[in-house]
Amino acid sequence: MLLSVRDLIVRFRTHDGTVYAVNGVSFDLEEGETLGLVGESGCGKSVTNLAVMRLLPQPAGHIENGQVLFNTEDLTKLPEASMRELRGRDIAMIFQDPMTSLNPVLTIEEQMVETIQAHRRVSSVDARARAIELLGMVGIAEPAGRLRNYPHQFSGGMRQRVMIAMALALEPQLLIADEPTTALDVTIQAQVLELLQRLTKERGTAVILITHDLGVVAGMTGRINVMYAGFIVEAATTPELFAKPRHPYTVGLLHSIPRVDAGPEEALIPIEGVPPDLRVAPVGCPFAPRCAWRMARCWTENPSLGPLEPGTTVRTSGPEATHRVACWNPPTADEAAAGAPQRPGFAPAEPPEAAGRAAAGPGANRLAASPESGRDR
Ligand SMILES: Nc1ncnc2c1ncn2[C@@H]1O[C@H](COP(=O)(O)OP(=O)(O)OP(=O)(O)O)[C@@H](O)[C@H]1O
Ligand code: SF4
Ligand SMILES: [Mg+2]
Repeated sequence: MLLSVRDLIVRFRTHDGTVYAVNGVSFDLEEGETLGLVGESGCGKSVTNLAVMRLLPQPAGHIENGQVLFNTEDLTKLPEASMRELRGRDIAMIFQDPMTSLNPVLTIEEQMVETIQAHRRVSSVDARARAIELLGMVGIAEPAGRLRNYPHQFSGGMRQRVMIAMALALEPQLLIADEPTTALDVTIQAQVLELLQRLTKERGTAVILITHDLGVVAGMTGRINVMYAGFIVEAATTPELFAKPRHPYTVGLLHSIPRVDAGPEEALIPIEGVPPDLRVAPVGCPFAPRCAWRMARCWTENPSLGPLEPGTTVRTSGPEATHRVACWNPPTADEAAAGAPQRPGFAPAEPPEAAGRAAAGPGANRLAASPESGRDR
């Protein structure tokens, strides 16, 4: 296995209190596999991957628990110097806004040559030749001349191509692309994604593609993990997730994006409500306040991620990966298609007695239980 993240818990300690950003996330990635990580803003996608790279915002961000096994080595235990060597060389990351990752006062040449020479014993002449080759590879015309330019002399799409070139410069085994195209217009977005897909496939690079847009991962990834409030709530191969979503949140996401094959009468339905405040320790299923399928136990017990049929042998990676869901009451196929429960007489369970909560003081109910409940994801 190339990457195995095990029970990862990340917290931020801030003046405002603790932020429960990632609450026990586990996932695997094989060599050359492409994995999508999808979910609404603030659900922990970036933080999960920054933790993998050991680039959490400091001093607030902490890995509180878990392992990040990369080629069986636990990155959470690696000395910082070894981690610096590994970044870029073995695992590279592309961010949403290339202006924040490119240095505005250095030319593209200076930045690319520096990146290459930081990890490889090559002369400046050879590093420059490699930089030209890489810029050509990502479709930049007259690469030798463009090397002398500064980042601001490139358009957004071209800057993102430069970032891809830099990320692939050292032929990493894993590329983490965090919303790599959201800052771009739709046509350029498609071109950049196509390029990313082609180059990584040619090189057998494994990819984690982070996005809030299910449409983007549809054509780009073999598997998808859906995240909500710091948990993975559904994991499946991409075709399976689109054909048979089984978590109410995934069902909601799929109904809220435009579909190519949708008829004129099929309206988009946004998911009602907002994600929970991550400054409050999670209790019960984090999706319960927004869920049309919720039952009484959902308010207090957080289901862990497991196979749809109990007792199934679970495969956590590859094209035969087991479809898993964290839900006490998954929608049926008909319900998923309709976007709402279809069982006669079914109504979502009311929150636990308001009276009990009032007696214990505001917010006490959600704070009382262990923050780690349901962490086995
Ligand atoms: N430096 C920080 N200090 C405190 N909390 C933080 C910090 N960085 C992130 N968080 C919190 O961690 C949680 C997860 O954030 P994260 O950036 O991973 O979300 P995301 O899923 O990547 O969202 P987006 O789609 O907006 O990029 C959020 O609640 C966020 O407010
Ligand atoms: S049915 Fe319950 S467990 Fe499933 S998503 Fe809804 S609230 Fe969560
Ligand atoms: Mg993010």
